Amino acid sequence: MSIVEVVKQRFTTKAYDASRKITAQQEQELLDILRYSPSSLNLQPWHFFAITSDEGKETILPGIRDFNAAKVRDSAMVVVFTSKDTLDDAQFSKVQQQEDLDGRFKDEETKNANDKGRRNYIAAYGGSDEDLRYWMERQTYISLGFLLLGAAAMGLNATPIEGIDPVLLDERLGLKEKGLHSLAVVAIGHNSEKDFNASLPKSRLSEETVITRL
Ligand SMILES: Cc1cc2nc3c(=O)[nH]c(=O)nc-3n(C[C@H](O)[C@H](O)[C@H](O)COP(=O)(O)O)c2cc1C
Repeated sequence: MSIVEVVKQRFTTKAYDASRKITAQQEQELLDILRYSPSSLNLQPWHFFAITSDEGKETILPGIRDFNAAKVRDSAMVVVFTSKDTLDDAQFSKVQQQEDLDGRFKDEETKNANDKGRRNYIAAYGGSDEDLRYWMERQTYISLGFLLLGAAAMGLNATPIEGIDPVLLDERLGLKEKGLHSLAVVAIGHNSEKDFNASLPKSRLSEETVITRL
């Protein structure tokens, strides 16, 4: 299937078949998709909680709105998307060290120049801490899009879920202590015959409405 066919065929799953799990390989591929998602300056200001166990689901369920609870309970894997509260020095260092390990710098000079460029970019951005928090959240949402597309390309069903109680979800996962906050959840698995959205036609605003060709 071409990528555009995948985009047109995927849909938000409303009901899962709890008896159908995903394979260990599928689980690993989904985690790879999350980890390899792009972010501005490669800063990766996120952390993902990948939940497959019943205990893990029970932990987060108080933070899921009632109308989404069954999707979380019956899906094979749930990913909680969390974003950093502040862009701290440690994040710059962590990314620089990893890029070094991955062989991205030909010498110390390039490595330092890269780090300086990244920090200058953020300084020039000139936003408040709150602006930077929103900026990091936008980076994190890119990974949500990647996961939705990736799951569909793998023939899996998925549900993006913003119907959460972020305060409760943060509490349940101890996010404040970790310097993180939750944004959204994605449930993944195999849909059931109760998934009414599977047979509905897709609906999108027209090309003229949302796209301007210049
Ligand atoms: C960020 C985001 C949050 C969403 N939150 C929910 C949700 O909490 N529960 C739900 O059933 N669907 C949720 N949806 C699904 C949307 O309603 C759906 O994507 C939209 O109607 C387009 O339909 P499609 O995904 O089937 O193409 C969400 C979608 C996105 C992208």
